[in-house]
Formats: sequence, structure tokens, C-alpha cells
Amino acid sequence: DKAGHRHFMAKEIHEQPTVSTYALAHYVDAATGLIRSEAEAVDFAQVDRLVLVACGTGHYACAIAKYWFERIARLPVECDIASEFRYREPPLSGRDAAVFVSQSGETADTLAALRYAAPHVGHVLSVVNVAESSIARESQIVLPILAGPEIGVASTKAFTSQLVTLGALAILAARQRGAIDEDEERRLVRILSEAPRKLSEAIACAPEIEAAAITLAEARDVLYLGRGPLFPLAMEGALKLKEISYIHAEGYASGELKHGPIALVDSSVPVVVLAPRDGLFEKTISNMQEVMARGGRIVLFTDAAGAEAAAEGAARVVVMPDCDPFIAPIVYAAPAQLLAYYAAAFLGKDVDQPRNLAKSVTVE
Ligand code: M6R
Repeated sequence: DKAGHRHFMAKEIHEQPTVSTYALAHYVDAATGLIRSEAEAVDFAQVDRLVLVACGTGHYACAIAKYWFERIARLPVECDIASEFRYREPPLSGRDAAVFVSQSGETADTLAALRYAAPHVGHVLSVVNVAESSIARESQIVLPILAGPEIGVASTKAFTSQLVTLGALAILAARQRGAIDEDEERRLVRILSEAPRKLSEAIACAPEIEAAAITLAEARDVLYLGRGPLFPLAMEGALKLKEISYIHAEGYASGELKHGPIALVDSSVPVVVLAPRDGLFEKTISNMQEVMARGGRIVLFTDAAGAEAAAEGAARVVVMPDCDPFIAPIVYAAPAQLLAYYAAAFLGKDVDQPRNLAKSVTVE
């Protein structure tokens, strides 16, 4: 049942404001405004390193969470794709906690990575959507994302629910490690709890996003740029676009632009910039100017302050709701998904069943 939408992917994108509240309700104690103590199965004060392993979209959720665990909890993080991790056989220790993130819980490489890590690390956690999956069964601690069945091959609502879950875990780790006090924990929980409402405001920009998507639909290559936690989101946005529209897209850290990818820029290569007005915004503006000077067409996703400062010269500007930088990668996920969705739908592609892809990759 597509609930009135043309595709499951559209339905699942629009479900995010609702579905993300399920993970929040599970991990946040509404009475105290703190992360629930049931989540305290690991004492992160006794953990020296967090190892985050996943494939595809789950990996980008991990790459965003790395910024949170490092910044909020001051916990060193190693983040890898499962297919590399399992064969690299990295050294692990009893003071590592390993977290395996998988929507299906059946991804072969992620399960093999878990089996490699389990005998060596202190804790094996999984962040899964399917609670009765193999990855869940083989982990000591299962953190459900509660996103409900995801049908579209392109992962959308699982991604934002993975982020909410990992965000809550980062706050818990910060508390246990003494990196934040109770007031700060409450403040961070309040910000995380704003994600569903902000997602809904972001989704309300659908008409402008659809117009921007038509700009992309005629391109052969598209670049996505972001800084900080929006850098992995740029890679996730590019993955969404290539999966369902078959347009070649790559995500880069904005600061890497002049180290190579700018050579690709001309008037035929749209550049999608994910840039709320944060501490690094001025740097992003100068990256955008470098693109525009070479005839590149900018599609800018920013907030009202960012649009005021930097809209000039951009081909398209989509004004996102104001939000705290902590949740920006969750809020900006929705437009990245919708951009890919509308481009693919405009091109008449099979959005829910893209060619060559399976929902669950159970062979390597
Ligand atoms: O079920 P999993 O989360 O383990 O799946 C991992 C990837 O196969 C998956 O995220 C894939 O990249 C999606 N098609 C992305 O949209």
C-alpha cells in the first residue's frame, strides 16, 4: 500500500517525520528529558574506541555518527565499509565496542564483519530495522530503529531512523564518559527531538526540490558537496541519485574540491551544495564561487540566513528550516532523498526497483 503516493520511496520519505518519533520514544525518557537508562547496556566510560561498520547507506549513517561520537562524547571512532573491514582484518581490542548498522540485518558483508570482530572486541552492538535478523541475533546488544518495513530499494526512512538512534547513543556515551553534564544532555535531547518536526518542514519544500531535480535530470554528472557531517550526507545524496536515476554522481568534502573534482566542473555539471549557515559556511561560499567562476550551476540547500548571504549566482536555492547543526544531517537528508526521487521520477525510471539492485544483499 503506497498510501496515495506513486512509489514506495515517496511514501517512505514522507513517513520520516512520523517514523523517526518511534526511535526517539524508544531511546528518550520523556519524563526526565534524558536518554533512557535501559540503553545503558554498555559503559562507554570503559570503551577506548568505537568501531562502526556497515554497507551503503548504513555506512553513510555511521560516517555522520562518527562526527557526533567524536565531538559530543570525545570518543575515538573508526568507521569502515564491511567488505573492506572483514578482509583487512584490522587489529581490535577488548576495549573496543563495535556497532554494525544494517536495515535488513542480513547483509552478507556486514554479518561477516560482525563475526570477525565478535571474538576480539568488548561489545558487539547492532543498529537494525529487522529485529529478528541474523545480525541482530548474533549481537550482544540490539538497538532497533523501529522504522517499519522499508520496501523501496533506495533506503530513506531507515537512514534517518539510524541517525536518530546513533544520535541518542552518542548522547548516552557522552554522559557516561563525563563529556557532558545533565543540562547539556537535556539540551542535546531536546535538539534531537526536534528532528521529526524539522523533517516535516523540510519535506514541505517538495515543490522547490522538484523544480531543482529537473535541473539535475538532464545532467550526465552531478557533484554533491558538504562539510562536517554534511560531507557523508553529500555522499549519501549522490548514492541516492545514481541508484535510482542512473545519473553519475559523487559526493565530496567541499574542501577537497580544488584537489581534483573541480576539473570536472563546467556548465553541464550541476553542483549540489548542502550548507546550513554554520561555522564553516564562509568556506563553503568560497567553494561555491569557485564553481560558479567555471560556469558550474549551483543547487544550494541552505537555511534562511545562508540564502541571504549566498543565494546570488546560484541556479537554484532551496531554503531549509533553521535547525541546530547537530541535527542538520538528519534534516537535510530529506531534500537529498527527494532530489533523487524527483529526478528519477521525471526521467520515468523504476524508482522502487532500480536495475541491478536488490533490497537485501545477502551474497558478497
Ligand atoms: O540492509 P542494509 O542496511 O545492510 O543494506 C546496506 C546497503 O545494501 C543499502 O544501504 C544500499 O546501499 C541501499 N540500496 C542504499 O539506498
